[in-house]
Amino acid sequence: MKTGMLLLAIGLITGGGIWKGFSEKPGMRETMFQMEAEAKVLKKAIESRLTLPVFYDSIPDMRHTIPTDPDEVTEGYKVMAEENIRLRKAIFKAGNPKPVFNRYITSCVKCHESHCPGPINRILKLKVQ
Ligand code: HEC
Repeated sequence: MKTGMLLLAIGLITGGGIWKGFSEKPGMRETMFQMEAEAKVLKKAIESRLTLPVFYDSIPDMRHTIPTDPDEVTEGYKVMAEENIRLRKAIFKAGNPKPVFNRYITSCVKCHESHCPGPINRILKLKVQ
Protein backbone atom coordinates (compact mmCIF):
# COMPACT_ATOMS: atom_id res chain seq x y z
CA MET A 1 0.00 0.00 0.00
CA LYS A 2 2.71 2.46 1.03
CA THR A 3 4.88 1.41 -1.92
CA GLY A 4 1.95 1.98 -4.26
CA MET A 5 1.45 5.51 -2.95
CA LEU A 6 5.16 6.22 -3.28
CA LEU A 7 5.26 5.03 -6.88
CA LEU A 8 2.17 7.06 -7.67
CA ALA A 9 3.84 10.14 -6.19
CA ILE A 10 7.04 9.55 -8.15
CA GLY A 11 4.96 8.99 -11.27
CA LEU A 12 3.18 12.30 -10.81
CA ILE A 13 6.40 14.19 -10.07
CA THR A 14 8.20 12.87 -13.15
CA GLY A 15 5.16 13.36 -15.36
CA GLY A 16 4.91 9.65 -16.02
CA GLY A 17 8.45 9.61 -17.39
CA ILE A 18 9.52 6.90 -14.97
CA TRP A 19 7.09 4.47 -16.58
CA LYS A 20 8.72 4.84 -19.97
CA GLY A 21 11.58 2.72 -18.66
CA PHE A 22 9.15 -0.15 -18.14
CA SER A 23 7.19 0.19 -21.36
CA GLU A 24 7.90 -1.84 -24.49
CA LYS A 25 7.85 1.20 -26.78
CA PRO A 26 11.12 1.74 -28.65
CA GLY A 27 12.74 5.16 -28.93
CA MET A 28 12.11 7.23 -32.07
CA ARG A 29 15.79 8.08 -32.44
CA GLU A 30 16.88 4.42 -32.26
CA THR A 31 14.18 3.52 -34.78
CA MET A 32 15.49 6.20 -37.18
CA PHE A 33 18.99 4.74 -36.92
CA GLN A 34 17.57 1.33 -37.85
CA MET A 35 15.78 2.89 -40.85
CA GLU A 36 18.99 4.63 -41.89
CA ALA A 37 20.99 1.39 -41.62
CA GLU A 38 18.39 -0.45 -43.70
CA ALA A 39 18.36 2.33 -46.32
CA LYS A 40 22.17 1.99 -46.69
CA VAL A 41 21.81 -1.75 -47.34
CA LEU A 42 18.98 -1.13 -49.84
CA LYS A 43 20.96 1.57 -51.66
CA LYS A 44 23.95 -0.79 -52.08
CA ALA A 45 21.70 -3.59 -53.31
CA ILE A 46 19.90 -1.35 -55.83
CA GLU A 47 23.18 0.14 -57.13
CA SER A 48 24.67 -3.33 -57.58
CA ARG A 49 21.42 -4.61 -59.11
CA LEU A 50 21.23 -7.32 -56.48
CA THR A 51 18.03 -8.90 -55.25
CA LEU A 52 16.72 -6.83 -52.36
CA PRO A 53 16.74 -8.37 -48.91
CA VAL A 54 13.32 -9.34 -47.63
CA PHE A 55 11.11 -6.69 -46.07
CA TYR A 56 12.33 -6.31 -42.51
CA ASP A 57 9.16 -6.11 -40.48
CA SER A 58 10.84 -5.73 -37.10
CA ILE A 59 11.76 -2.06 -37.60
CA PRO A 60 9.24 -0.35 -35.34
CA ASP A 61 6.49 1.84 -36.77
CA MET A 62 7.80 5.37 -36.13
CA ARG A 63 4.30 6.53 -35.16
CA HIS A 64 4.45 4.31 -32.08
CA THR A 65 7.88 5.22 -30.78
CA ILE A 66 8.97 7.54 -27.99
CA PRO A 67 10.37 10.82 -29.34
CA THR A 68 13.10 12.76 -27.54
CA ASP A 69 10.72 15.73 -27.65
CA PRO A 70 7.00 14.83 -27.43
CA ASP A 71 6.12 17.98 -29.44
CA GLU A 72 7.60 16.26 -32.54
CA VAL A 73 4.50 14.14 -32.93
CA THR A 74 2.13 16.58 -34.65
CA GLU A 75 -0.69 15.78 -37.10
CA GLY A 76 1.69 16.61 -39.94
CA TYR A 77 4.23 14.17 -38.53
CA LYS A 78 1.69 11.36 -38.49
CA VAL A 79 0.62 12.00 -42.10
CA MET A 80 4.22 12.11 -43.34
CA ALA A 81 5.09 9.01 -41.31
CA GLU A 82 2.22 7.08 -42.89
CA GLU A 83 3.34 8.05 -46.40
CA ASN A 84 6.94 7.13 -45.55
CA ILE A 85 5.93 3.68 -44.27
CA ARG A 86 3.75 3.10 -47.35
CA LEU A 87 6.68 3.92 -49.66
CA ARG A 88 9.05 1.73 -47.66
CA LYS A 89 6.79 -1.28 -48.15
CA ALA A 90 6.36 -0.47 -51.85
CA ILE A 91 10.14 -0.66 -52.48
CA PHE A 92 10.09 -4.40 -51.84
CA LYS A 93 7.16 -4.99 -54.19
CA ALA A 94 8.39 -2.84 -57.07
CA GLY A 95 9.65 -4.43 -60.29
CA ASN A 96 12.09 -1.52 -60.55
CA PRO A 97 12.84 -0.45 -56.96
CA LYS A 98 15.12 2.52 -57.75
CA PRO A 99 12.49 5.25 -58.32
CA VAL A 100 10.39 4.04 -55.39
CA PHE A 101 13.43 3.97 -53.13
CA ASN A 102 14.37 7.53 -54.13
CA ARG A 103 10.80 8.69 -53.45
CA TYR A 104 11.06 7.03 -50.06
CA ILE A 105 14.26 8.96 -49.28
CA THR A 106 12.62 12.21 -50.47
CA SER A 107 9.81 11.51 -48.02
CA CYS A 108 12.37 11.12 -45.18
CA VAL A 109 13.85 14.50 -46.15
CA LYS A 110 10.42 16.15 -46.35
CA CYS A 111 9.60 15.27 -42.76
CA HIS A 112 13.07 16.25 -41.61
CA GLU A 113 12.70 19.70 -43.18
CA SER A 114 9.97 20.50 -40.68
CA HIS A 115 10.87 18.22 -37.77
CA CYS A 116 14.58 17.53 -37.40
CA PRO A 117 16.80 19.34 -39.95
CA GLY A 118 20.12 18.04 -38.51
CA PRO A 119 20.64 14.90 -40.60
CA ILE A 120 19.15 16.14 -43.93
CA ASN A 121 22.47 16.09 -45.85
CA ARG A 122 23.21 12.64 -44.52
CA ILE A 123 19.79 11.40 -45.66
CA LEU A 124 20.15 12.99 -49.12
CA LYS A 125 23.31 10.94 -49.66
CA LEU A 126 21.19 7.80 -49.41
CA LYS A 127 19.62 8.52 -52.81
CA VAL A 128 20.56 6.19 -55.64
CA GLN A 129 22.05 8.17 -58.55
C1 HEC B 1 7.48 11.64 -40.28
C2 HEC B 1 8.74 12.25 -39.96
C3 HEC B 1 10.03 11.57 -40.22
C4 HEC B 1 10.34 10.68 -41.23
C5 HEC B 1 9.47 10.20 -42.37
C6 HEC B 1 11.72 10.32 -41.03
N1 HEC B 1 12.23 10.94 -39.93
FE1 HEC B 1 14.10 10.71 -39.15
N2 HEC B 1 13.59 11.80 -37.53
C7 HEC B 1 12.40 12.44 -37.34
C8 HEC B 1 12.36 13.01 -36.01
C9 HEC B 1 11.20 13.78 -35.39
C10 HEC B 1 13.61 12.70 -35.41
C11 HEC B 1 14.06 13.03 -33.99
C12 HEC B 1 13.80 11.78 -33.16
C13 HEC B 1 14.15 11.92 -31.73
O1 HEC B 1 15.19 12.51 -31.40
O2 HEC B 1 13.38 11.38 -30.91
C14 HEC B 1 14.36 11.95 -36.40
C15 HEC B 1 15.67 11.48 -36.22
C16 HEC B 1 16.44 10.91 -37.21
C17 HEC B 1 17.85 10.60 -37.10
C18 HEC B 1 18.69 10.81 -35.86
C19 HEC B 1 19.29 12.18 -35.86
C20 HEC B 1 20.17 12.34 -34.64
O3 HEC B 1 21.39 12.26 -34.80
O4 HEC B 1 19.62 12.49 -33.56
C21 HEC B 1 18.25 10.05 -38.29
C22 HEC B 1 19.64 9.57 -38.68
C23 HEC B 1 17.08 10.00 -39.14
N3 HEC B 1 16.00 10.53 -38.46
C24 HEC B 1 17.07 9.47 -40.42
C25 HEC B 1 15.89 9.23 -41.14
C26 HEC B 1 15.85 8.46 -42.36
C27 HEC B 1 17.05 7.84 -43.06
C28 HEC B 1 14.54 8.42 -42.74
C29 HEC B 1 13.92 7.70 -43.90
C30 HEC B 1 14.42 6.38 -44.22
C31 HEC B 1 13.78 9.21 -41.78
N4 HEC B 1 14.63 9.67 -40.82
C32 HEC B 1 12.42 9.44 -41.85
C33 HEC B 1 11.35 12.50 -38.24
C34 HEC B 1 11.23 11.71 -39.39
